[in-house]
Amino acid sequence: MTIHVVDACWALPDGTRCQPSRACLEDVPAVVRLLADDPLGSAREGGDMGTYERAFQEIDADPHQFLTAVRNDAGDVVGTMQLTVIPGLSRGGARRLQIESVRVTSTLRRQELGERMFTWAETVALASGCSLLQLTTDTSRPDAHRFYERLGYRPSHVGFKKQL
Ligand SMILES: CC(C)(COP(=O)(O)OP(=O)(O)OC[C@H]1O[C@@H](n2cnc3c(N)ncnc32)[C@H](O)[C@@H]1OP(=O)(O)O)[C@@H](O)C(=O)NCCC(=O)NCCS
Repeated sequence: MTIHVVDACWALPDGTRCQPSRACLEDVPAVVRLLADDPLGSAREGGDMGTYERAFQEIDADPHQFLTAVRNDAGDVVGTMQLTVIPGLSRGGARRLQIESVRVTSTLRRQELGERMFTWAETVALASGCSLLQLTTDTSRPDAHRFYERLGYRPSHVGFKKQL
């Protein structure tokens, strides 16, 4: 089964209207700018766009993945999240939806766009036959931890990473 995405349109308190869509190659520079638009991202993103474009092609060709570009009325990319359906044997053969690389542009933060993106991700999870959503977040992001807890995510596991 492939990832199944549903249409949505959101109106923010300041009147901005936003819609999630599949990111295209032309969106890659804008998505990278969003990834760089926070203290952790600014230290690790940027440089050769070719490496990002190759990564995009790999994601885009994978039917279990959806790289989301949230656009405003003008078509600007104002938010992003990468969704991946992961099949598994554990939990009775449950599929899970992994959420990665979440960003809302700094000028639109705290207007519940992030919350709407996550509510939408839940509909994607259900439509894709997933029974669990999961994500990791850096331990140095207390604001993001508060955000995820408010949305019902629990810090039930400890994530380990090893840089190669
Ligand atoms: C986390 C993020 C996606 C939330 O999107 P949002 O549209 O601002 O979310 P909402 O308006 O629905 O909720 C706001 C909450 O997000 C959290 N938040 C996390 N990082 C934040 C930031 N840099 N600025 C503002 N709020 C942030 C806060 O808990 C805030 O609640 P508060 O007002 O009670 O402090 C967005 O703020 C963002 O891109 N932050 C920077 C990057 C980041 O931390 N990404 C997550 C990586 S795991």
